[in-house]
Amino acid sequence: MAATQRTGPDSSPQNPSTIPELIKKKRDGARLEDAEIRSFVQGLTEGTVQEAQIGAMLMAIRLQGMDLGETEILTRALAESGQQLQWPEAWGGLLVDKHSTGGVGDKVSLVLAPALAACGCKVPMISGRGLGHTGGTLDKLEAIPGFSVVQSPEQMQELLERVGCCIVGQSRELVPADGILYAIRDVTATVDSLPLITASILSKKAVERLSTLVVDVKFGEAAIFPSQERARELAQALVGVGARLGIRVAAALTTMDSPLGRCVGHGLEVEEALQCLEGGGPTDLRDLVTQLGGSLLWLNGQAPTLTKGVAQLGAMLDSGSALGRFQAMLEAQGVASDLAQALCSGSSAQRQGLLPTAPFKDELRAASEGTVQMIQALPLAQVLHELGAGRTRAGEPLHHDVGLELLVTIGQRLSAGTPWIRVHHKGPSLSPSHHQKLQEALKLSDGAPFVPDPCLRELILPPSMKG
Ligand code: URA
Repeated sequence: MAATQRTGPDSSPQNPSTIPELIKKKRDGARLEDAEIRSFVQGLTEGTVQEAQIGAMLMAIRLQGMDLGETEILTRALAESGQQLQWPEAWGGLLVDKHSTGGVGDKVSLVLAPALAACGCKVPMISGRGLGHTGGTLDKLEAIPGFSVVQSPEQMQELLERVGCCIVGQSRELVPADGILYAIRDVTATVDSLPLITASILSKKAVERLSTLVVDVKFGEAAIFPSQERARELAQALVGVGARLGIRVAAALTTMDSPLGRCVGHGLEVEEALQCLEGGGPTDLRDLVTQLGGSLLWLNGQAPTLTKGVAQLGAMLDSGSALGRFQAMLEAQGVASDLAQALCSGSSAQRQGLLPTAPFKDELRAASEGTVQMIQALPLAQVLHELGAGRTRAGEPLHHDVGLELLVTIGQRLSAGTPWIRVHHKGPSLSPSHHQKLQEALKLSDGAPFVPDPCLRELILPPSMKG
């Protein structure tokens, strides 16, 4: 019976805890032993722990926390819950990746993975789906007809050989225990837990056998952690646990109050990623892509300085090399060659109709004159979620055509009546409450127009790169 069930094969006198005993121990603020964490994760993978017990343990961890040692063991146990990836020895030192804690309009991975491949790196990116109101890289890629995020370890190796990068999902073979926890965290208000985020991200990266990782830790109204201080704590945990696992981890603290770039929504974000891969697109997106990629190249010894790394990455966008890798990745991950070619060789206008397109578009106008101080990402994401761009249950299908385009930028002066947002939806019309919520997200001031600060505020380096 579940109430007295032992936690795994090691339920011997040395490790006598039942699942309820483990939950109680953490609930009451005690430290879990290595064997206890491992047997809980083993129970997850074997399906012997009930969903209610998983939810209770997640809440206990969310409320009581875990120290670095516990977080390291949780990370290792999650990583070991599936197959370990093995790469040819010649790739040692070339394996890098980037991960984000989640934002609104964040399509950086779509651009950065192929750009890094164009710089000679190997990027075996295991990415995630939307969590809470944030968008997921896998969901965005699935807006491209035919793209398959399900790739076996053997297929991943072939992709890295041929293209240099792949973007795949966690699966029954890859970090399955993280998949179970990720889905339950999403529906139990346990997403914003420092050890759970750390273990979730680093377990996927440990399986990839990386030498260097950069994590984009977002803070602000639309991030998992609103405050920069809390985001810094998460960054330090990621860097610290990374070092214990032998991965050089740097963490970039970046703002997430307004959306990144001009587009939010799966199909629209693919279009914007393509513009960035062509050397164009919004400045804030390009800056973040080149800063994160440049940091990786520098930390991994492939650029002599951070500035040179940033320039190297930018050159891959401007020359079309990154776009070429993106096209090759699309074809290798299931997109028909003529579609991949059409997406990667035409202009935005020529791409019309190749990506999912919503039947209705509505523009909203600024209610008064003013300077755009902020466009609150959180209410925008919530409205899109309700319009079908997000899930309310794990596994639910998404509407890839639902999204929005921002028609104005932060710091811009607007006159009353200027169209500021275009919403792509299933129609026939936006509800009055959606209309109101969107209008309230536009924050205008009486101040002069200004150039917004870059979103990257702090780069936390691994111990080996400090002084
Ligand atoms: N990305 C992950 O993979 N896990 C988290 O918990 C948050 C972001």
